[in-house]
Amino acid sequence: MKQRSFFKLLLGSSIASRFLPSPAVAAESSVAAKGLRTISKKPMSETEKIIHEFPPGFLWGCSTSAYQIEGAWNEDGKGESVWDRFVRQPGKIERGETADVACDHYHRMPSDVALMKELGLNAYRFSISWSRVIPEGQGKVNARGLDFYDRLVDELGKAGIAANATLHHWDIPQALQDRGGWPRRECADWFADYARVVFDRLGDRVAMWATHNEPIVPSILGWGAGAVAPGIKDDKASYQAAHILNLAHGKAVQVFRQGAYPGKIGIVLDLHGMVPATSSEADVLACQRTRENAQGIFFDPIFLGHYPKYLMKWLGPLRPEIADGDLAQIRQPLDFLGINYYFTQEVSHLDRGPRRLNAGLGVNSGLAEEVSHSEDGGLLKSSLKMRTLPALGHTSLDWGIYPQGLGEVLRRVATDTGNLPIYITENGCSMTDEPNASGFVEDRDRINYLRLHLIELQRAIRAGINVRGYFIWSLMDNFEWGAGFRPRFGIVRVDYPTQRRIPKLSARWYREVIARNAVTE
Ligand code: FCB
Repeated sequence: MKQRSFFKLLLGSSIASRFLPSPAVAAESSVAAKGLRTISKKPMSETEKIIHEFPPGFLWGCSTSAYQIEGAWNEDGKGESVWDRFVRQPGKIERGETADVACDHYHRMPSDVALMKELGLNAYRFSISWSRVIPEGQGKVNARGLDFYDRLVDELGKAGIAANATLHHWDIPQALQDRGGWPRRECADWFADYARVVFDRLGDRVAMWATHNEPIVPSILGWGAGAVAPGIKDDKASYQAAHILNLAHGKAVQVFRQGAYPGKIGIVLDLHGMVPATSSEADVLACQRTRENAQGIFFDPIFLGHYPKYLMKWLGPLRPEIADGDLAQIRQPLDFLGINYYFTQEVSHLDRGPRRLNAGLGVNSGLAEEVSHSEDGGLLKSSLKMRTLPALGHTSLDWGIYPQGLGEVLRRVATDTGNLPIYITENGCSMTDEPNASGFVEDRDRINYLRLHLIELQRAIRAGINVRGYFIWSLMDNFEWGAGFRPRFGIVRVDYPTQRRIPKLSARWYREVIARNAVTE
């Protein structure tokens, strides 16, 4: 079997849902009021440089997630997670790699935080491993697991770095999977109980909480396409899982409000750009249902209080079962929306065969023959192509580079969220890093990617969109799911055999951006 990153599949799902283009939320006239400037400045050199300033108090961070960096997969009482189990199945991960050790962050946390401080970060986004805190998912708390996050949060506090914690970044306890996992209704209550344990211990020091990261992955992809943990191919269950993830989100937010913890709470969605390939009605509709499938299925109930109508009709008997009162529980007022943006895709209608099950995300995953949805258009009868600009090309994962898509997504979303504070919780790229003899990487291509996205972001802020912070994926190279350690997303290189951390050129560049609170063209 030809193995490729499961992200080939994820690409197909990562779309801006129901957000058809709408006018910018505010006019440029708000710019002056905010005191934001894009100024042309003559530096020492002949070259005219343009400086894009960010608002005062803007958060500058990096993101990671527990499974991708921590290692120590079975230490100090940690339980097995669905990812610990999944990576051990033959053929699921390139080269059969696992994150048993990963970046060994569990043992190197204090020096990793010291590194963040050196880089000048004022915020750090990480996730908490549920199976480290409650090994069986329910019931007994593992004090040593919780202590680890307690120490992390303290360490961040000492370094003056705001903690941004995600409760669920795909690695639920295997014990809960064995009891039915996300499609099972009780999973929402188990999640709320876990959230309470974590809020009670860390809530006094964590500035920002997210319930889930990209809930499409553990539901539509993990239960439908089967290409990620838990690796099941059951479309009906995958849509039920999506609904219960929404319910779990709503319940955890309610627990948070009841506890009156001092931080803010929101959710992180992957809102990539998604545009019809042509203006034909068939492509426009294909784009709509594919966006709804990838994003509207979470965004709409959470922010608008209902599921996307067209998608629900399209899914027919596969649509989730929704109990009375669920939608009200899901739609909780949030303090912010976290957006992960990596790329924009063009969607075409594609119908080459009978309607099939198995998610039909419209892209060829390459991981297993059975999930090559794009060959016939799949369940959604659509196919996806990366948009890129000829001058910019693709990243090493073949993701198209299209910075203006970030602005497009922000404009669409801001309308539906009532201009709620937004954080870009992930943006970044894997590039073919070439270290020199001492391990240093001059990753000018990554700097270029980040710079162009930041310029686009600053433009959106000047137009009145309420973006409060930006987090690079990722602080350091790490375990990239199905693609293992091959892709390198870090601004810090990790030399895995020695676990040495070597800041790349992009890390130096980012430190300057942060210090000036501005990006220079
Ligand atoms: C996002 C995930 C994150 C990382 C990046 C590259 O979809 O949230 O864990 O893998 O992609």
